[in-house]
Amino acid sequence: MDQINFQNKRVLVRVDFNVPLNGDYKITDDTRMRAALPTIKHIIDHGGKAILMSHLGRPMKKLLPDGSIDRNRFTLRHLVNHLSELLAKPVFFVDETVGEKATAMSHKLSPGEVLIVENTRFEAGEKKGDEKLAEAMAELGDVYINDAFGTAHRAHASTTTVANYFDQEAKSFGFLMQKEIENANKVLHGPTRPLTAIIGGAKVSDKILLLEKLIDFVDNLIVGGGMAYTFMKAQGGNIGKSLVENDKLDLASKLIEKAAAKGVRLLLPEDSLVADAFSNEAERKTTSSKAISEDWMGLDIGKQAIQQFSEVIKNSSTLLWNGPMGVFEFSNFAAGTNAIAQAVADATQNGAFSLVGGGDSVAAVNKSGLADKVSYVSTGGGAMLEFLEGKELPGIKAMN
Ligand code: 3PG
Repeated sequence: MDQINFQNKRVLVRVDFNVPLNGDYKITDDTRMRAALPTIKHIIDHGGKAILMSHLGRPMKKLLPDGSIDRNRFTLRHLVNHLSELLAKPVFFVDETVGEKATAMSHKLSPGEVLIVENTRFEAGEKKGDEKLAEAMAELGDVYINDAFGTAHRAHASTTTVANYFDQEAKSFGFLMQKEIENANKVLHGPTRPLTAIIGGAKVSDKILLLEKLIDFVDNLIVGGGMAYTFMKAQGGNIGKSLVENDKLDLASKLIEKAAAKGVRLLLPEDSLVADAFSNEAERKTTSSKAISEDWMGLDIGKQAIQQFSEVIKNSSTLLWNGPMGVFEFSNFAAGTNAIAQAVADATQNGAFSLVGGGDSVAAVNKSGLADKVSYVSTGGGAMLEFLEGKELPGIKAMN
């Protein structure tokens, strides 16, 4: 991107401004907007005119009773003031994604000005990667920059098809996209060893491909969170009412076998903090993860597991963390996840490279206040997961 001359050019930038909003449409976490600032600033500081496009939410899945789009709820207008504050300059908005009005506004911009066009998902062709829509989007810029790593796993008009309408020298990844790819590659290609992956979250089924891929190249694989109980049951453990995917028991056994065959140390939580109800106020006690009584459920890893996992983490040189160790949204069951965040932060302090990727673990590391103590926190949820699974992301492929 730093080789492109932006002077006086209209620069169409696909960002991922899919940020959470509260009931008053106020942004509750602007990480993704902040992450795109270096790219936007570079363009406007070099005399470019930035035309930003993004999706926000899934408007086609939340239609109004009459079948129309809920424009009030999903409009990108909600983001304009916040971006304006972040950039400390006015930001213009046009209430259409493509068309005469949006194109005319893009031409009216002066160097250094910023325009946001309406939610790309208001257009029926966006998710289909529609050519006509992409062609209309391309009318908005002389140059195309894709900085939307969080949406790079979607083959949509604004993330992939549109790239076909720009010559190779008039398109590029943005700085965020570049950073995400470089950091993920530090784990995937030639990592400093020992390499430890810490995988958590509710379901094995969400992480099958990731786990299979990781077993091929990690030294240690720590599995925690709700998904650990499917592994426990597969090994004949009693898991009470803990979360389980009975149709994945065979898969869990196979993963355990594969890890053993490859010499990967697979660590499951020896003990669990169990509860008599799915509630922060539930009764709780610590038991072996394989001997949970009938009416109890594991909601966090136990003290022994914390100690064992932390030890392995502290002795690692490269760390990948995806998914919490328990129901960290409940303060009484957040200790395991917080301890892992601390161990990852300590290892980083001692020279390890650490990548935190995927929605929930990012929320967890942010909540623990240790986000700036790890090497890199990805802005991608599904996109980072698919990248680590070894898939070629459509948004990256289109640019190449
Ligand atoms: C995300 O939040 O993971 C990205 O913005 C992609 O959103 P999507 O899952 O609705 O495509």
